[in-house]
Amino acid sequence: MDYKKLIAKKIKENVDLDESFIEKLIEIPPKSEMGDFAFPCFQLAKKFKKAPNVIAAELKNKIDLEGFESVENLGPYLNFFVDKGNFNKETIELILKEKDKYGASDYGKGKTIVVEYSSPNIAKPFHVGHLFSTAIGNSLYKILSFEGYNCVRVNHLGDWGTQFGKLIAAYKRWINEEALEEEPIKELLRIYVKFHEEAEKNPELEQEGRKHFKNLEDGCEEEVSLWSKFKDLSLKEFKKVYNALDVEFDSYAGESFYSDKMEGVIESIDKKGLLVESNGAKVVMLDEYNMPPCIIKKSDGATIYATRDLAAAIYRKNTYDFYKSIYVVGTPQALHFKQVFTTLKLMGHDWAEDCKHVGFGLVKFADRKLSTRNGDVIFLEDLLRESIEKTLEIINEKNPDLENKEEVAKKIGIGAILFTYLKNNREKDIVFDWKEILNFDGETGPYIQYSYARGKSILRKVNNIPNDANYSRLNSKEEFELIKLLEGFKNSIFNAINKLEPSILTRHVVEIAKAFNKFYNSCSILNAEDEELKSARIKLVEASCQVIKNGLNLIGIKTVDKM
Ligand code: ARG
Repeated sequence: MDYKKLIAKKIKENVDLDESFIEKLIEIPPKSEMGDFAFPCFQLAKKFKKAPNVIAAELKNKIDLEGFESVENLGPYLNFFVDKGNFNKETIELILKEKDKYGASDYGKGKTIVVEYSSPNIAKPFHVGHLFSTAIGNSLYKILSFEGYNCVRVNHLGDWGTQFGKLIAAYKRWINEEALEEEPIKELLRIYVKFHEEAEKNPELEQEGRKHFKNLEDGCEEEVSLWSKFKDLSLKEFKKVYNALDVEFDSYAGESFYSDKMEGVIESIDKKGLLVESNGAKVVMLDEYNMPPCIIKKSDGATIYATRDLAAAIYRKNTYDFYKSIYVVGTPQALHFKQVFTTLKLMGHDWAEDCKHVGFGLVKFADRKLSTRNGDVIFLEDLLRESIEKTLEIINEKNPDLENKEEVAKKIGIGAILFTYLKNNREKDIVFDWKEILNFDGETGPYIQYSYARGKSILRKVNNIPNDANYSRLNSKEEFELIKLLEGFKNSIFNAINKLEPSILTRHVVEIAKAFNKFYNSCSILNAEDEELKSARIKLVEASCQVIKNGLNLIGIKTVDKM
């Protein structure tokens, strides 16, 4: 049963308001003493010309109780206490019936959402910021698909721009083919860094770089073939990371894909009378919106990042006819996206409103500062490897006899990193600290995976999982709190979608794992007082495992049955 709907219906019987409007007002109180659901009466005060607490008191006497233990008024709130037996039964039975689909819906049916994420730059390391984007984007893709949206996953590779002219110049002077063969990105990074060092002494180099990029844009064979080589080598490396994370894309149309689509865009900007000359460059003025101009063409005639984003947005609209188009890119690029979206709007594309930048914070390491220019980077493969190795050490200590240790360590080690990215509000910066990330007792990925494995281990000990149970026996505070969280799973998915914020779901899964452990520690399951209670508790364990699994799956983390 959808309790919010039921409550809305009951209130509607007494108040002439739109049912879905009422439903939206219903809250989940912070403390269970305040009921399981609460309806605030503030919004009714104007309509009835009465104080909210008077309205709450009056409504209390009119509400029909069916489905509820009681309804109380507390100040301006009407607090609903559900009929626990019924609530437990419906919740647990629904989970066990829907299994992997529990929480899913066809809410987004018929709507296409383009989700752009990851988008690393070729010939450069895939860095911790790209992993942030990958974790959020992959999770949003999973959550949105779960709710019925048709998602198109786009990797907007950074594979075009003047830097490739520089890289070609560097390649021709300094490349070590053997090193390139062995560790392509490290070698390309080495010569790129060298280029910047040398260019300070020898300004001719910049000139050379510009020439090579011009040739690349004009399709000259040598430049094009070197550029393709860089791209192939990079993609091979990136795909190792994607395979390890089990992340996929429907399109790898990166910046270069738009190189022949920009002239058309520039023309239509010009036709609209928006293109202005400024210090030799061509720009769209955005003063009116309190933004610096959006640069379309540099003074040397080269197009830039923003032009390619304009072309990409239009291409995506024409190709996918999206309902929403979201860009999972670091918050430092917020202004860039505002400029791009505003320019689209000025060009007459009203759908620019459906483009959303989903930003995220910076990634820091407790005691180091990273910069690609100086070649000081953390290679992602190293980061993942380190996490897996450290996890293996912990397993060797805690459970040396475990089967498939490597496999388990991989799922937990990678899960721990993904969890770290998805645990907090995405705008918040994160600091990597192994002790915290791999703490099996903190609010971490391993902690949740461990809770799941604990549940699974109980279920393995039961010979016959009962078909049915008397769920009204689950009447301790611990049991009810857990069941309430299981019931709220779907709601947390909706909230995550509304704010495009996977951490809302992550936090909910953390709360479920915590409540599960409280239940586990305070209620005997296999040695419950009687068979009836034991059966009901076993079913609750089964349902909890199912919801934890569904939740972890939606944030891209795999479960293990034993750890
Ligand atoms: N490649 C860029 C970077 O590494 C991110 C691309 C973001 N996406 C976009 N449509 N501009 O910073």
